Amino acid sequence: MTSFNPSTDLLDLKGKVALVSGGSSGIGLETVRFLAQVGALVYMGARNESRATGAIAELEHDGLQPGNGEIRYFDLDLNNPRDVKVAGEAFLEREKRLDLLIHNAGIVSTNTKPGRDGVVENVTVNYIGPFLLTQILLPLLKKTAREPSSDVRVIYVSSACHVNYCMLL
Ligand SMILES: NC(=O)c1ccc[n+]([C@@H]2O[C@H](COP(=O)([O-])OP(=O)(O)OC[C@H]3O[C@@H](n4cnc5c(N)ncnc54)[C@H](OP(=O)(O)O)[C@@H]3O)[C@@H](O)[C@H]2O)c1
Repeated sequence: MTSFNPSTDLLDLKGKVALVSGGSSGIGLETVRFLAQVGALVYMGARNESRATGAIAELEHDGLQPGNGEIRYFDLDLNNPRDVKVAGEAFLEREKRLDLLIHNAGIVSTNTKPGRDGVVENVTVNYIGPFLLTQILLPLLKKTAREPSSDVRVIYVSSACHVNYCMLL
């Protein structure tokens, strides 16, 4: 297996735009950090604005200078498809390109009570929300893919949870 060190192996991403869901904590936060460090404009998708802006302030304090990339808060709650639609359309208004759409947010919830659309939150957050967001942003992703030197990606951070112990929770 080839090893990958994000501190040294990431390419220069100046001029590129990324959107990372669940970007204010855990793996998403570190993803935001590394992408911004190599020059990307990174939208930190998060459902809690104060947590997100606090995380951005910490990342900037850790050494993100202007020109080294930029991080912006982006309001994104995947648990309600209507909110996802509003968020996706707002992104289209705000940005002229999108190079990396990283679906990092994910939950393992024991809540089996269906939400207002009759779907449990595990399904809404992990599947329906990311699918809908991708559909809405697809025209922008395709447009960016036609730009010179582009390398557009849609990335899902997944889990083996569905095949092992998490099923028993
Ligand atoms: N850590 C592991 O060992 C591991 C292993 C396999 C797979 N993964 C996958 O890696 C990804 C990140 O995991 P992690 O360990 O960094 O988990 P984490 O720390 O729990 O982060 C999950 C992120 O998802 C966000 N999120 C939860 N519900 C959301 C919603 N309704 N709308 C928008 N965002 C929401 C959380 O936001 P809040 O901060 O607002 O809660 C948080 O930022 C997940 O997809 C997970 O399944 C992780």
